[in-house]
Amino acid sequence: MYKDRLLTPGPTPIPQRVLQAMELPMLHHRSDVFKRELKSACEGAKWMLGWEDTPIFLACSGTGAMEAALLNTCSPGDTIITVNGGVFGARWGKIAERLQVKSHEIEVPWGEAVSIEQVQKAVREAPHAKAFCVQHSETSTTVLHPVGQALREVKAAAPQMLTIVDGISSCLTTPMPGGADIVDIYIAGSQKALMLPPGLSIVALSPLAWRAVESTPKRSLYFDLSGERKSLLGGETSWTPASTIIVGLNAAIEMFRAEGLDQIYRRHELLSRMARAGLRAMGCEVLAAEAPCPSVTGFFPPAGIDADALRSAVRSQHGIRLAGGQGAWKGKIIRIGHMGYVDPFEVNDAVAALSLALRSMGARIDIGEVISASLGELSS
Ligand SMILES: Cc1ncc(COP(=O)(O)O)c(C=O)c1O
Repeated sequence: MYKDRLLTPGPTPIPQRVLQAMELPMLHHRSDVFKRELKSACEGAKWMLGWEDTPIFLACSGTGAMEAALLNTCSPGDTIITVNGGVFGARWGKIAERLQVKSHEIEVPWGEAVSIEQVQKAVREAPHAKAFCVQHSETSTTVLHPVGQALREVKAAAPQMLTIVDGISSCLTTPMPGGADIVDIYIAGSQKALMLPPGLSIVALSPLAWRAVESTPKRSLYFDLSGERKSLLGGETSWTPASTIIVGLNAAIEMFRAEGLDQIYRRHELLSRMARAGLRAMGCEVLAAEAPCPSVTGFFPPAGIDADALRSAVRSQHGIRLAGGQGAWKGKIIRIGHMGYVDPFEVNDAVAALSLALRSMGARIDIGEVISASLGELSS
């Protein structure tokens, strides 16, 4: 028997304490008890993001929040700059197209981070773009973009241009790339390092972003961010919220406060180093060598090994679910998710299971060397 282990870049494992908080009898979302939960979640989210203003809770997955950000700040005919270095970077352009917004795309080769020169060039070419949209970590390629520096460049060249950061797979794995002076809209999603089920997005807006929202003609009833803000000031959400997940968020935030944000970031760095060291010792080509993100590690298996066959061997032989590739890398890579409620021994488990499975598929692997490379990071 092997236990089922979920090491995917979303959804992620949920701690027992959070599950227990969510299994309490259903609260009515207009009740005083739930309003207290919501207030506490607002305070907790402000602390977690280091954000002064109250973030907005949306009952949708991350893509819904990305769409909400553009719907509330852009009108048909506007232009946005997008950093397209993977599946999620491309998503900005797809959303923009549906909203009749033009996208000026910075094309980034898969596996690489956007360069500051590319950002400067795009802002020079589209200085009147409404927004600059980027992922902090591009989950499909496991790259961490240098977002802090990029946003400072954008703000220096075009102070009115909104900066929209998809922090869905980076939130709580690495610090936010700056405060409301350089980040105008920051998006987090529940099913990642927040250790919650899918279905809740958190959107934080700067004063500049709120001014843009107020001056943009409304196009959506459900995703009306200023309406949500008004509701929150009255202690409620406009529509039926993802109330169970909001209750779970409060339990998760208690755990984050106990561990401390800096330690959470250090833990994710360590998990990433362990995964990379183990994979290299197996002869795998680890992605994003120059700019790996701390939430997920991707790799090409050794030559002659089929990625999907390896992944399914790890699942069927050892109970560990890993993620495959997306888009152009579907069937070619494997991704080990290590965000949220994941500890070093679980990453070591994934590394061990991969080396056993590789050996069963005929690869020559020195398992002792692999484990010692991974654990070496833990003891260093
Ligand atoms: C960086 C990033 N952005 C956006 C999304 C889309 O989120 P969802 O699948 O929750 O709509 C994901 C999901 O994996 C992601 O990793």
